[in-house]
Amino acid sequence: MKNLKTSLVMVVLLIPLYLVFTMLNGSAAQADSDNHESAEHMALESSPDHEALETKVPSGKLAEVRAFKNLVASDEKSLSEAKAIYGGKGTCFNCHGEKGMGDGELASSFDPKPRNFTIPVWQKVRTDGEIFWIITNGTESGMPPFGDMLSDEEKWGLVNYIRELGKTGGVANKSN
Ligand code: HEC
Repeated sequence: MKNLKTSLVMVVLLIPLYLVFTMLNGSAAQADSDNHESAEHMALESSPDHEALETKVPSGKLAEVRAFKNLVASDEKSLSEAKAIYGGKGTCFNCHGEKGMGDGELASSFDPKPRNFTIPVWQKVRTDGEIFWIITNGTESGMPPFGDMLSDEEKWGLVNYIRELGKTGGVANKSN
C-alpha cells in the first residue's frame, strides 16, 4: 500500500515535469530555427546582388520579353556607336557611371540606386530582352523610359554595350 502511494506521487509529479521539459525543449528548438532563418534572410537582404536578381519587368510580360531577339550584332562598330549614346544623348553615364558601376554623378539621389552592370550574377540572370524592355519603358523607381528617344537598333546596341561593361568595364577601358 505504501509502495502504491509512492508510485502515485511519483507519477503525479513526473507527468507535469515531463510536460514542462518537452515544452521548453520544443520552444528552444523553435527559437533556434527562427534564428537560423533570420540569419540567412539577413545575409541575403544585405547582399547588393540579391536586389539585383529581381527583374524590373512586370511578371505578366516576362515570358514575352525574355523571348525578344537581339537585332544587333555585338561588333566593334555597333559597340562604339552604343558607347557614344551611353556617354552622350542617352545620358546613361550620368546615373550608371562611365564604367557601368552604378556610380554616376546623379546616382546618390536614387533609391534603389542605378543598376551596377558589373555585378556578375546580374549579367547572368538578366536576359537581353529584359534589358531592352527596361531601356524602352523605364521603371517606376527611377529609371527613365527611352522609348521615344532611341530607336530599337540603338537600344539593342546599348544592351550589347551593357554586356561589354559587365565583361571589361566597357570598350571605354580598351580605347582610353
Ligand atoms: C536619371 C538616372 C538614370 C539614367 C539617365 C539612366 N538610368 Fe538606368 N536606371 C536608373 C535607376 C535609378 C535604375 C534602378 C531602377 C529600379 O531599380 O527600379 C536603373 C535601372 C536600369 C536598368 C535595369 C537593370 C535591372 O535591374 O534589370 C537598365 C538595363 C538600365 N537602367 C539601363 C540604362 C541605360 C541603357 C540608360 C541610358 C540610355 C540608362 N539606364 C539611363 C537610373 C538611370
